[in-house]
Amino acid sequence: METTIFCGKGGVGKTLSAVSLASSLQGKVGIIDYDGGHSVKNTLGMEIEIIPNVVQPIRENLYAVVIESPVYKNITEAKEAGWKLNEYLEQFIGNLGIIPYADMLHEFFGVPTDIPTLQKFAVLVQTLAVMQQQDFDHIIIDVEPTAGLERLLSNANSTVRSLRNLKNKGTVFLTLLGAKWPDIAGYLKGDYIKNIDSYTSDIESAVQIIKNARYILVCTPERGPINQTFEVRAIIEAFGGKIYGYVVNNLRGEYHERQNIRVIEEQRLPFVCLKRNQEIHNRLEVLHPILLQTGKEISKIFEPA
Ligand SMILES: Nc1ncnc2c1ncn2[C@@H]1O[C@H](COP(=O)(O)OP(=O)(O)OP(=O)(O)O)[C@@H](O)[C@H]1O
Ligand SMILES: [Mg+2]
Repeated sequence: METTIFCGKGGVGKTLSAVSLASSLQGKVGIIDYDGGHSVKNTLGMEIEIIPNVVQPIRENLYAVVIESPVYKNITEAKEAGWKLNEYLEQFIGNLGIIPYADMLHEFFGVPTDIPTLQKFAVLVQTLAVMQQQDFDHIIIDVEPTAGLERLLSNANSTVRSLRNLKNKGTVFLTLLGAKWPDIAGYLKGDYIKNIDSYTSDIESAVQIIKNARYILVCTPERGPINQTFEVRAIIEAFGGKIYGYVVNNLRGEYHERQNIRVIEEQRLPFVCLKRNQEIHNRLEVLHPILLQTGKEISKIFEPA
């Protein structure tokens, strides 16, 4: 399974690039919208209803999934609503099972965890595991602009660390918790600890997929967005990620300053330039050939020089 991730400043054409490449690739292709806001759906010009967090067929060999934080009741709300522990736990299927522990730490001990981000990440882990099982050939991930990736990987790290801590030296914590909430402590001691190895191994394989992805930096031919790619590049290279090239998207179509292109050339990486195309906002029938063409253009980054 080969994974490609497009990075860059907001509004430079990451989603357009992601959807275009996805449309032009052979084999079973999945596009993961990790950016919310249904931008993949809009870019595909789709009219079908998207169910969040479900891998859905789009056409022929193309599938898409829009990742969103699932809505759930936290442990305090669940208790207030008179839910039984298992009713609360049933909200978290598969890898979402990592949530209850983080939620409990957050609610009972004030551990500052960004639960919606963690949930979204857990869904991504689950989705990647499912796509691997379903023999996808290519995955394209449309991440949030700027620090989205950094946040994602640091989430992965802290989650694995906290799960391992619970497994290896969680006794004191569980005793404390057990004095007040014996049912919850009992659950954590039993089923939860039993699942920790499988949670951490799924998280680690998602991290491997992300670290081994083919990174493409996207910018417009303007200084701000170009500078932003340098920041993103530093982040990616810091975790050992490999950058394959640049998409320079002249989406405003106003100018194409030579000196800015020269800055890109100096990066000594393959790059492709996209022209402004007014028809991008059209319906799918007209859009598809444009996406296909754009995707073929972007694929040139992967061709040997
Ligand atoms: N070459 C182009 N010609 C015309 N319009 C374009 C071009 N590239 C992108 N656009 C339009 O510009 C807008 C921004 O593009 P896109 O959504 O792909 O950017 P993005 O980097 O994913 O943005 P965000 O950071 O908000 O997710 C969209 O409306 C898109 O249709
Ligand atoms: Mg986008």
